[in-house]
Amino acid sequence: MLILPKIRGFICTTAHPAGCHQVVAEQIAYVKAQAPIVGPKNVLVIGASTGYGLASRIAATFGAGAKTIGVFYEKAADDKRTASAGWYNTAAFEQMAHADGLYAKSINGDAFSNAIKAQVAALIKRDLGQVDLIVYSLASPRRVHPETEQLFSSVLKPIGATYHSKTVDVFRGEVNDIDISPATQEEIDHTEAVMGGEDWQLWIDYLKAQNLLAEGVTTVAYSYVGPELTHDIYKAGTIGHAKDHLRTTAVNITDSLKDVHGLAMISVNKALVTQASAAIPVVPLYISLLYKLMKAQGTHEGCIEQIYRLYKEHLYSGQPLYLDSDGQIRLDDLEMHADIQAQIESLWPQVTTENLLTSTDIEGYRDEFYRLFGFNTAGVDYSQDIDANVKIASIEN
Ligand code: NAI
Repeated sequence: MLILPKIRGFICTTAHPAGCHQVVAEQIAYVKAQAPIVGPKNVLVIGASTGYGLASRIAATFGAGAKTIGVFYEKAADDKRTASAGWYNTAAFEQMAHADGLYAKSINGDAFSNAIKAQVAALIKRDLGQVDLIVYSLASPRRVHPETEQLFSSVLKPIGATYHSKTVDVFRGEVNDIDISPATQEEIDHTEAVMGGEDWQLWIDYLKAQNLLAEGVTTVAYSYVGPELTHDIYKAGTIGHAKDHLRTTAVNITDSLKDVHGLAMISVNKALVTQASAAIPVVPLYISLLYKLMKAQGTHEGCIEQIYRLYKEHLYSGQPLYLDSDGQIRLDDLEMHADIQAQIESLWPQVTTENLLTSTDIEGYRDEFYRLFGFNTAGVDYSQDIDANVKIASIEN
């Protein structure tokens, strides 16, 4: 079939297998061009098919030669629809890992469920024995609690007061004022249940109970802080509240891993175009400005550069970890650079629909967005028919 992008709001409902393959190949090539990482050997990545989780899997595999198990929730193609981008990414990733003789297996299903945890544990036991790194990189709008079966839905709202700011309709190129009313207590609690640390803790407890965590195991989850400008909708909003819970959970997990000398860390990463961040009001406009300034300064990084740095300069540097006052690794140091943030603060009030193209990197944002779904990649002829039905080598379908 001929596969073209179909944008619905902040999501693209199609994905291109050859384009996704190309994007994954570029990330792999980046890692292969860097110095090797003396790092993890047996890695579980939860949320491994797109964004930061995919980059974590690629960097572990091709940077450190690690064996990886990846968990995600993606869709295979059917008669009417293409597969999701994360499906094609994983098919490409496994193909390239296997071509290099590297172990890579994947499990597609709800990571919040007990059934998927059991499936992963059985696979670790059978193939790896134990894991020494667990990356927790889920971004989900909802979660069904494994015990109570209650459905929790997360919201992206301020806490306490209405948030007034501006936002961009990325594809219409329109900058509009936006008012977001504050979350109810129930919405705050639900967001914490989805994006907080409870499920991370459940994963670690479950794997530990089965003796699947190696001596000195590390586990890392990702967070975001961002500038004052987005605090009301992010850091001080429902998602930031959930991230606070994630941070407290890291302390509790480290405590529970004392006997195996394990460590749970939070890494605060840079704002990047991913399927998850596209859904947050205000953030795409902020990212468009940020990209323009960081590209001009030569400090722009994508997921793969960030995660390579996380492994090489932080988790596996052989040096004591350098942490902020909240005990977190800061990969967002270049984003938060005073010079960059001062420029954003002065430019932000001036951005309008009329000057969007020149005052921000909205084109770069759009391009990255298309690339998330395998479009706009060099070397792929999008006018050619292509088979949408692509297999992930390790998944029966
Ligand atoms: P993403 O949307 O690219 O990836 C989410 C991953 O979670 C995918 O692999 C998806 O299949 C998987 N997933 C979602 N629901 C699932 C479920 N029920 N079961 C199994 N897998 C499921 O997201 P992104 O942006 O890479 O986010 C990952 C983490 O990084 C999040 O914690 C996010 O808050 C954090 N982060 C993201 C930043 C950004 O700007 N994108 C910045 C800093 C942190």
